[in-house]
This record gives sequence, C-alpha cells and structure tokens, in this order.
Amino acid sequence: MAFQINDSVTWVGKIDWELRKFHGEELSTHNGSSYNAYLIRAEKTVLLDTVWGPFAKEFVDNLKQEIDLNEIDYIVSHHGETDHSGSLPELLKHIPNTPVYCTANAVKSLKGQYHQDWNFQVVKSGDKLSLGSKELTFIEAPMLHWPDSMFSYLSGDNILFSNDAFGQHIASEKMYNDLIDQNLLYGEALKYYANILTPFSKMVEKKINEIVALNLPVSMICPDHGVIWRHEPLQIVEKYLTWARDYQENQITVIYDTMWNGTRRMAEALAAGLTAGDPDVTVKLFNSARSDRNDIITEVFQSKAILLGSPTINKGILTSVAGLLDEMKGMAFKHKQAAAFGCYGWSGESVKVLTEKLQEAGFQVDKEGLRLTWDPDAQGTEACHEFGKEFASGLK
Ligand code: FEO
Repeated sequence: MAFQINDSVTWVGKIDWELRKFHGEELSTHNGSSYNAYLIRAEKTVLLDTVWGPFAKEFVDNLKQEIDLNEIDYIVSHHGETDHSGSLPELLKHIPNTPVYCTANAVKSLKGQYHQDWNFQVVKSGDKLSLGSKELTFIEAPMLHWPDSMFSYLSGDNILFSNDAFGQHIASEKMYNDLIDQNLLYGEALKYYANILTPFSKMVEKKINEIVALNLPVSMICPDHGVIWRHEPLQIVEKYLTWARDYQENQITVIYDTMWNGTRRMAEALAAGLTAGDPDVTVKLFNSARSDRNDIITEVFQSKAILLGSPTINKGILTSVAGLLDEMKGMAFKHKQAAAFGCYGWSGESVKVLTEKLQEAGFQVDKEGLRLTWDPDAQGTEACHEFGKEFASGLK
C-alpha cells in the first residue's frame, strides 16, 4: 500500500493493525499503529525513514512497486529507533552506497544496532538538502524523544516531517486527521504524549517555541506514527504546548491494589468523599493490577492529584502499585498532589512506604496517609469518606 499526499510526496509506510504492545511489552497500543515512511520526488528523490524490521521485506517489495530503488538519491533517518530504521539493512542491501542523512547521535544508534558502516552524512539544525526545486531543512530535536531525533521541513510544500512527535498509535485506513474519530485521535495523541514525552516536556516546549519563531508556513505535519495532520495542522502543536506546561485537569484519580478487598473498599469510600468535598471534580478509580498501566499513566497525567493505596505485604506494598510508582517516577510529573492509603492486618508499613515513594516520584504529599486495620467497618468507611472530602476540598 502507498498513497500520494500531494504531487511530490508519497506515503510508503506500513499500517500495523495487529500491534498491541510497543517498546517490547512496555506500552499498550489498543488501536494498532503505523510506521510512516515518505518518498519525496523532485529533481532528486529522497526516502524519509523506513518501517519496523519484521516488515522489512514487505516494505522493500512495496517500495519497488513505487520506484526503481536505484532512483533513490538520498535516505533520511530522522531517528534510529528500530520502528523507523528496522528496514534499512534490507533496503541498503539493494542500494548500499546511498547517503543516509541523520544526526551524529543517530549514527551511534544505527551503528550500534546494525553494525554497518553505511554512507552516513551527519547533519545539524539548519543544514539543507537540495532536491532541485525543493529543499529539505533539518531541525535537530533531541529528546523528542531520543537524543538522536530530528525533524525535517520541506520548503515549497511546507510540510513538517516530525518523526515521533505529534504521532499517535492508531491503525486506520483513513490516514488524515480530519477523516477519523476525533476522540480516538486525541485520546491516542494524549496517551502518546503522556507515556512517551512527559519526561521531556521542558524540551518539547523549548523546541516548539524555536520552530514557531522560525515563522515557517506549515500546510501539513507528517509524523511517523498514525495519521497526518493536514486539517489545521497546528492544532496538535498547540496541544503539545498545553500538555508540556505541567498539564492537569480538575481530576483526582484513585489507584489501588487489594488482596481481600479491604483496600478496595477504602478506595471506594475515599472516592465518594472526594466527590462530597468537590462536586465538580472528576473522580476515577483504577485497580492497578487489573487496569492497563499506560492508561493509568494517562489518567495521572490528566489529574491534579492522586490517592494511591495498597495493603501491607511483607512490610511493603503490592507489586502492581510498586511498578506503577517506579513508572511514575520516570515520568517526573510536576505539581501534582498525592496521599496514600491502605489497610493492614499486622505490621502495617504500606502507607509509610507509599508516602515515601510518592515523594521520591515528585508528588507533593501534604496530608498524612490513611491506614486502617483489617477491613473497614462503618467507622473506618466514614474515616475514608472524611479523608477524601478534606483532600478534595483542600485542593479547590
Ligand atoms: Fe517511533 Fe522513537 O520511535
């Protein structure tokens, strides 16, 4: 499959309808994904990125249907991660001397993965590649989301090729932002940002401001995953700026794991208390052992505060909560409040452990956590309700 984006640019990527996990088993992709590669034909011809290795042969076969491979003058590798570079070894078997334009860090990444001394041409921000009547300008974008990442801008057509930035893990036969369900589009774009770009928000904001200051006309943004932004393409840029500025909504998320339902009952009573404390706040509950971790991270991203609960086990906390805490620490969320809760039968360390780990993860913990023995009785349930009410009203 290939489709023409305009007179000079053709999409030559791969739609991966089956993909359910990405980055190994780390990131859920409920709606599949696509690996977008683009062929630009002017007086010179350039291929922008390839697709993930398992599809390498299919990619090269399809590309051959589109163009005689020997007519490809240049290859641009915006980012060395294998979902975009994985077909380079197969492709370069056919056209081994073709120059590969990439950043200095991408050379390290590509050599490190494929152990090949290809014809690398290192570029920096502002460097240009003439295609004849059109020109490609490179813009380094370190940490969006790897140190090697870069964008390129096609003058004349005014297209920004943004690699991972502005992408979404969506498989769709309708490859433009104005043709697909907007809730799906923004849900996946947000999940992508929350789980992949949150730790680099300061750099996202700086890079976007740098690009905006260039005052380049942008008719389209072509990311390397999901749909192309052709209708009001800057809408996703504005969203990224909003998300990069310590984004939060009026939401409190209650996350817990439970052994025999005591901590679950606490969570539910706490949630009712939150609503009593602030009827306008959105309250959501997740059992971390039974919910998708990346979906929880997205909810935390949207929240102004979380309540995190675990019963005590072996003087510690349940593993699903421990894993989530580790992941949240890596996300480096800013300006979010938190408090801990949990029930216990014997030693009861979980709330102390949770509180310490929440603080280590960068959450502001102003309220002492709530711990109850055994299962909450009427008095315990009331204590949870009151705790939730005070917590929510204190955040108003
Ligand atoms: Fe889509 Fe960082 O690779």
